[in-house]
Amino acid sequence: MDFRRILFRLMYLVGKMPWDTGVVPPELVDLVEGPEALPAGRALDLGCGTGTNVVYLARHGWDATGVDYTPRAISRARRKASEAGVSPKLVVGDVTRLRELGVGEGFSLLIDLGCFHGLSDEQRDAYVREVNAVATPTARYLISAFPPGHGGPGPRGASREEIERRFEGWELAWEHAPQAEGSGTPERRSVTYLLLRRGEG
Ligand SMILES: C[S@@+](CC[C@H](N)C(=O)[O-])C[C@H]1O[C@@H](n2cnc3c(N)ncnc32)[C@H](O)[C@@H]1O
Repeated sequence: MDFRRILFRLMYLVGKMPWDTGVVPPELVDLVEGPEALPAGRALDLGCGTGTNVVYLARHGWDATGVDYTPRAISRARRKASEAGVSPKLVVGDVTRLRELGVGEGFSLLIDLGCFHGLSDEQRDAYVREVNAVATPTARYLISAFPPGHGGPGPRGASREEIERRFEGWELAWEHAPQAEGSGTPERRSVTYLLLRRGEG
């Protein structure tokens, strides 16, 4: 088991998850409920953690699936879903092996809020292959990531340039730079949100 996987297990075990705010980011709310909301379809949350966003999607009529390799995160997500009265599909597994996990395909919305930016280069290669295999030809992909060189034991980060280069056949719809000091959580203040659109979507 690699270092990051162990680190996540420990963090969930001791309850030290600064990202786990329980708040659905406005970028996702806008895609689901905004003036140009996407029609509900199949959604996939990559590295779904304790399920705040996958439960939100299920509550809004999406056929939602969440994948996370930390068993304790998925247990909490299951509890959250049951409390909310929804039943998204929740899978313990690695986001670089989506097809092996049997998550299915035909996802028109894929979200990654803080998972991709911690992966190694090889994992990123596999991840993009898997995303391309399970996404529809006109899917949307929402990602939040720390900039590269964030430092410490945390994620290594990912630049917009790298994400655009890796997601060949997808185009950048918009980029939201980190929010100003004083707004939101420390996590929120340092991440960039990007929306990619596949093909002519
Ligand atoms: C920073 S947390 C974000 C969780 C959630 N997206 C949120 O916004 O609350 C990153 C999550 O990705 C998961 N993760 C990291 N690498 C993974 C991988 N290769 N496969 C599956 N899950 C992974 C971790 O277990 C963790 O729950």
